[in-house]
Amino acid sequence: MKLAILGAGNVGGALGKGWAGRGHSITYGVPSPGNPKYAEIAGNAGSAKVTDVADAAKNADVVILATPWDAVPVALAAFGDFGGRLLIDATNPLRFGVSGLELGVGFETSGGEIVAGLAKGAAVVKTMNQVGFAVMAAPKHYAVPPVMFAAGDDENAKKLALQLVAELGFDARDAGPLKISRLLEPLAMLWIGQVMTHGAPGDNAFAFLSRQTP
Ligand SMILES: NC(=O)c1ccc[n+]([C@@H]2O[C@H](COP(=O)([O-])OP(=O)(O)OC[C@H]3O[C@@H](n4cnc5c(N)ncnc54)[C@H](OP(=O)(O)O)[C@@H]3O)[C@@H](O)[C@H]2O)c1
Repeated sequence: MKLAILGAGNVGGALGKGWAGRGHSITYGVPSPGNPKYAEIAGNAGSAKVTDVADAAKNADVVILATPWDAVPVALAAFGDFGGRLLIDATNPLRFGVSGLELGVGFETSGGEIVAGLAKGAAVVKTMNQVGFAVMAAPKHYAVPPVMFAAGDDENAKKLALQLVAELGFDARDAGPLKISRLLEPLAMLWIGQVMTHGAPGDNAFAFLSRQTP
């Protein structure tokens, strides 16, 4: 498939590399495509095209949102109408508050729902936000596949998102409608707290396990 990834940073780089390795063609949409800093990430993602966001919109089958939260409105406006396409929202609505990093939208809405309000014509699925980019880069390197939940209202779009997530090597799980982003974004905060405050390595991931014996 043709995947457009908006943002070529830590997350965009890891996802582009992973999906290029599974045969998908990657285009990055970024604010300054001529900047040589993108060359290595593009090279790691199967010689991905690096272009502006509007151009990345043209041929994409699926779009992945991997920009800082503050950049989301600008990136989505530049993309234009999604025409019913799947938009995987990997962002977290982070901000620095008085006590440090926090979710900037409270708990009665979510970044995923806000993205759905901004992304005209998009079938938004919240996923790939729950763990750090080091996990996204190599989810197959675990004794048990790390879990990755997906939340969205369009069942066909969510099925496709789950397929793409599973291709990377995750234990891909349907978490329900898009408003479940209200749980998946705090789950990301839990992961961030483990890594930033409690000394967990950045490659630590969540697992959802079954017993091996009854
Ligand atoms: N880092 C993680 O482990 C992690 C894990 C899960 C979720 N997330 C979430 O994923 C998102 C990206 O995180 P990250 O760590 O990858 O950030 P990052 O390394 O700072 O990369 C952000 C990318 O977005 C680009 N960008 C900025 N404004 C843009 C715009 N208007 N249109 C298109 N691209 C734009 C940046 O380009 P320039 O560099 O040229 O500005 C950069 O390539 C955040 O919302 C974050 O909360 C991060």
